[in-house]
Amino acid sequence: MLALPTALAIAALAAPAAADMASGYNVHNPHRRLVQRAVTTDAASVAKQTFDFVVIGGGIGGLVAGARLAEWSNQTVLILEAGGDGSDVVQAQTIPGYTYHHGVAFGSPYGWNYTTNVQAEAGNAVKAYPLGRGLGGSGAVNGMFWGKASAVEYNSWSETLFPDGKYKWNWDNMDAAIKKATTLQQPAQEQKDQFQIPVDPSAHGSSGPLQIGWSKYMYPILANWIPTWRTLGLPISDHSAGDPHGGTIVPSTMDAAQGARSDSRTGYIDNNNSPNLVVLTGHQGTKIIFSDKKDKNGNLVATGVQFAAADGATTYSVTANKEVIVSGGTIHSPKLLQLSGIGPKAHLESQGVTSLLDLPVGFNLQDHVSTSVVFNTVEGVETWGELSTNPELAAAELAKWNADRSGKWTYVNEATGYVSMADIAGDAANSITDSIDEASLIAQLSGRHNIPTSVQKGMATQFALQKKWMKTNIGQIEIILHMWGPTPNSLVLQCALQHPFSRGTVMINGTNPFNMPVINPDYFSASADATMMEHAHGFLRTFATTKPMGDVVTIEISPGANFTGAALQEYFRTGSGTEYHPLGTCAMLPQADGGVVDTNLKIYGTANVRVVDSSVIPMHISSHTMGTTYGVAEFGADIIKAENTKDFLNPSSSSSGTTKPTGATTDSSKPTGAAPASTGESAGMSTGAKIGVGVGVGIGGAALLGAILFFMCHRKKDKGGPAATDKTWYENGQQNNQWSNDRGEAYPMHAAGGNSFHQRSLSHSGSVSTMATADLPAARRYDEGGRYSNDSRGVL
Ligand SMILES: Cc1cc2nc3c(=O)[nH]c(=O)nc-3n(C[C@H](O)[C@H](O)[C@H](O)COP(=O)(O)OP(=O)(O)OC[C@H]3O[C@@H](n4cnc5c(N)ncnc54)[C@H](O)[C@@H]3O)c2cc1C
Ligand SMILES: *[C@@H]1O[C@H](CO)[C@@H](O)[C@H](O)[C@H]1NC(C)=O
Ligand SMILES: *[C@@H]1O[C@H](CO)[C@@H](O)[C@H](O)[C@H]1NC(C)=O
Ligand SMILES: *[C@@H]1O[C@H](CO)[C@@H](O)[C@H](O)[C@H]1NC(C)=O
Ligand SMILES: *[C@@H]1O[C@H](CO)[C@@H](O)[C@H](O)[C@H]1NC(C)=O
Repeated sequence: MLALPTALAIAALAAPAAADMASGYNVHNPHRRLVQRAVTTDAASVAKQTFDFVVIGGGIGGLVAGARLAEWSNQTVLILEAGGDGSDVVQAQTIPGYTYHHGVAFGSPYGWNYTTNVQAEAGNAVKAYPLGRGLGGSGAVNGMFWGKASAVEYNSWSETLFPDGKYKWNWDNMDAAIKKATTLQQPAQEQKDQFQIPVDPSAHGSSGPLQIGWSKYMYPILANWIPTWRTLGLPISDHSAGDPHGGTIVPSTMDAAQGARSDSRTGYIDNNNSPNLVVLTGHQGTKIIFSDKKDKNGNLVATGVQFAAADGATTYSVTANKEVIVSGGTIHSPKLLQLSGIGPKAHLESQGVTSLLDLPVGFNLQDHVSTSVVFNTVEGVETWGELSTNPELAAAELAKWNADRSGKWTYVNEATGYVSMADIAGDAANSITDSIDEASLIAQLSGRHNIPTSVQKGMATQFALQKKWMKTNIGQIEIILHMWGPTPNSLVLQCALQHPFSRGTVMINGTNPFNMPVINPDYFSASADATMMEHAHGFLRTFATTKPMGDVVTIEISPGANFTGAALQEYFRTGSGTEYHPLGTCAMLPQADGGVVDTNLKIYGTANVRVVDSSVIPMHISSHTMGTTYGVAEFGADIIKAENTKDFLNPSSSSSGTTKPTGATTDSSKPTGAAPASTGESAGMSTGAKIGVGVGVGIGGAALLGAILFFMCHRKKDKGGPAATDKTWYENGQQNNQWSNDRGEAYPMHAAGGNSFHQRSLSHSGSVSTMATADLPAARRYDEGGRYSNDSRGVL
């Protein structure tokens, strides 16, 4: 059997070349000057200031929520991000194919370099557990697969998991929120025809900051993908339309016209001129600070956040006037909360943390576990094997990419599909399902993790749903065609479990915020998961021999067709790993079912701490997770805004009584940020902003506050009514033509794409800057002068 390079899932990412590990987050990196005015590494300019909202984590949840909140000029927002701004790894993050060939998720400062603990039921092995660390979070380093779960799955959140919730987390609201985040770029008609790409434009957004589209270059073997699903009698559809069963070719999070990654940084921050938004990179939130006094309802009140650049470095703090928003992702949000005294009391006390709130933070960890099978192909079938072994080809393709953003480097994996229990197990599907005894499974898993009874109660509801779905068309296994074979003339088919019964935990190890937490997804601790994976491999082998795929795929070289039964289980237990989709550790569930946050994303027992990221997703989905995380963040931001309107905060002062929060209606597609303000700017400015500005004047010369003042004065002179002020930043940007688009293409949001580095330098040179303004004249265009043609990153 042929050992895979990393013995972990390569669904979304392969291991990087050794040469790519050299990069360091370097505050002296000359490219930092290209970064947007609001982004700074200067902790001293932020420390001791007051912001209305302090967001911890600049990934998908944090940047989306922070940018949306900052659309309101009466709120100030700080986003803290532990990692860098991406300007020293531009090529690695931007070029789609580089994600897999020269990526930064592994072994670079743009990844957290984490591992699981020993996985007792998965080969007794420690598995790699990469996570993105830097603006854009995991979305800046990931495999770019776009996807939504099914309507049935989203509807189960409000119908079954949280039936009494105030805000309705269902398909209608998630679909609208995900559309609000995105702009679809359609593939060329000839490409659509050649690869039979199913595109339903009505399933996608058309004016959101995040670009999604298809790689300009697609390998010819991909033309076999859709026809093979058809031969098997499985449906073909656009998987964003609510029923992702069967085969598809998904779009990627990319500005297809630019052949460049799109993520929450390029979409929501790079062109964002909100003067009331500050992003501090290179600093990790280490603790949430709470007031000694609780509010009148007995809830903890957060007053600020502590942060530091590294272990042993100076600890700073900021004041949160209104809310603290935790957006560290599924691993770091529970870690930060536990460090701050919110979590399972017994564990916190055993680690030396004073418990403030006993909540099951860090339980309910669910992850997709994935495994890979390698096949040989007939001669002449091109895959990434050529690009990775032929330096001349790689250089020639890079020259193409530099010239007009075309060529093989624009490709990133997009061929995927979801199969149901009946698809993989046929007649055995029902008996496998019926043999799962929820009560004994819950008892068994609880014994492994000391699971609180509330969480166990929630598991019973979840397991009943999972069993129900095993008898429907809901995807249980994802199948992916991965271009990366270990040699030319080979390719990989992957299968990944979508609705695991296994449950894991994330728990702090000691009080040092710079320690890795103990990450234990406990793969295959539920034996039903292994049974499903065994059937998945059977399906995958059938797929590989079905025409037309069967015409180009020859023998299975790893593990080998003779691996069946116990030998196959041994192979995938040992060789499997994360598909990089952890969720559920701060679950949005009723408190009695082990929930951590309510449907307004507020942590139970706190007055003003919310979680906005993948950790609140209560139960796993048949989809990659970033699309859903964008939905959580967009809908979450609408809810937070709704709960921060004057009428909501002071119902008695409103003539019409309490406003109906927009989030409670089904019409969340209406951008709340566009709502006209009812008062003038100055009157509408929050106390927090006033305090912040006051302090800024007091300490004089702080560039950050200088910038805020500058822009506020500027606005007062230039702008008309407050309605204009409170347009979303992209509406303002488009109106004012701030997003000069040198290529003159007409589709909206173009500038939010991969060429945004020079956009930023154009639109910001000469403005008041928290960056070293002296550097600005030296700024060069992103794609100019072949600067990136040899060095891939880091050495800059
Ligand atoms: C290697 C990899 C490949 C993936 N491939 C895909 C894919 O192809 N398609 C897909 O849909 N999904 C994919 N995913 C999953 C997807 O990227 C995540 O589900 C999504 O990014 C989660 O968003 P988030 O906001 O919860 O967390 P993240 O996007 O991870 O953001 C969290 C951010 O918070 C920062 N942070 C954490 N703690 C602190 C702190 N204390 N202080 C300051 N900052 C902090 C982190 O550095 C990070 O930037 C992949 C993930 C990985 C890791
Ligand atoms: C990643 O962690 C391992 C230990 O798990 C360590 O040996 C290695 O040096 C780390 N790599 C980087 C780039 O930090
Ligand atoms: C916790 O950290 C210590 C070192 O600080 C390490 O020795 C120990 O193995 C860790 N515990 C777990 C469960 O990983
Ligand atoms: C499968 O066949 C290969 C090659 O003959 C052999 O090395 C391997 O041990 C076999 N594995 C199993 C599980 O039969
Ligand atoms: C802030 O501004 C928004 C949009 O103008 C408005 O709806 C909201 O009520 C204001 N909030 C406060 C607390 O003044």
